Amino acid sequence: MSDTPTDYTGPQRVLSGMQPTGRLHLGNYLGALKNWVALQDEGTQECFYCVVDLHAITMPHDPDTLPDAVRSAAAAYIAAGVDPSKSAIFAQSAVPAHAELAWIFNCVARLGWLERMTQFKDKAGKDKERASVGLFTYPVLQAADILVYKATHVPVGEDQKQHLELCRDIAARFNRDYGKGEAFFPLTEPVIQGPGARVMSLRDGNAKMSKSDVSDNSRINLEDDADTIARKIKKAKTDPEPLPSEEAGLADRPEAANLVGIFAALAGKTKADILAEYGGQGFGAFKPALAEAAVQYLAPISDEYRRLISDKAEIDRILSAGAERASAVAQPIVDETKKTIGFWS
Ligand code: TYM
Repeated sequence: MSDTPTDYTGPQRVLSGMQPTGRLHLGNYLGALKNWVALQDEGTQECFYCVVDLHAITMPHDPDTLPDAVRSAAAAYIAAGVDPSKSAIFAQSAVPAHAELAWIFNCVARLGWLERMTQFKDKAGKDKERASVGLFTYPVLQAADILVYKATHVPVGEDQKQHLELCRDIAARFNRDYGKGEAFFPLTEPVIQGPGARVMSLRDGNAKMSKSDVSDNSRINLEDDADTIARKIKKAKTDPEPLPSEEAGLADRPEAANLVGIFAALAGKTKADILAEYGGQGFGAFKPALAEAAVQYLAPISDEYRRLISDKAEIDRILSAGAERASAVAQPIVDETKKTIGFWS
């Protein structure tokens, strides 16, 4: 698409979101939340952090528990350092502009693009005829989440890379078809960075740490207490070799690479820094040090989470204010988009 305008000149904005699954884990924190906070604290871009409840209903869900799951995710954002006075924190369903833009994008995205999405294949499983249509168009709604703010940066873990490429394809196609030579939407940059971009299961270094894993020992939840964190790390799968002194020595040692990566991400260091300190030592020495670091970084977050979650009214107030702030940016962008594609007004 050589004639696609890409010279977007609008303001820099950050958007990201998580599913309200009730429990966030270390992968969510190191892969995404930590970078959300860092971008917020740069103070140079407006940040929008939503809880994606529209996405949550693409799979079977429980209407009775969904509202508290949204509150729980919002509390985890705040406990991790997202500051509601700086960033808008809100439920996706409370800003109707997301769904409105998603419909328009459903008519921009091509079936072939969606058929290549690996997450749909994973989530739909073998019986894809029974998957909801919403699950299939999930990444289109994700593109709408981003572009309804004309967000230029999206901090996420590595598993979201393909969805962000789709978002750029949708923006480029829209700009080409309707932009009249201008970049109406930005080609959003994913912010996937640091050794925490892909945190793996504690039980299998080749599988992603995930809330859907049946074994709770496979992940560290943000709500886990110090004893639970220490026990899970102690039980984490490893190999019998001591740690190497160089990063190259982690090749073909997925469990060792994962634990070193987690340590590095928690401490804000590189894997090389960690290996410089622990190279040559066995896991008997390394695991207690890692557990101590994990507890040191996560304890304040889980304490704050527990405090916040006991005050539903305060969380609801934050979510309402966030939705209002987000709508004030999103609605004019949807209105402008509707005009651009020729809707009556
Ligand atoms: P979700 O809810 O699965 O995950 C939320 C965020 O956590 C990251 N993450 C991980 N990072 C590192 N290692 C892991 N093991 C790990 N597991 C999860 C994810 O990459 C993500 O950043 N489709 C999205 C939600 C979404 C969204 C958006 C994100 C909807 N609209 C718009 C960004 C922008 C999802 O299901 O994330």
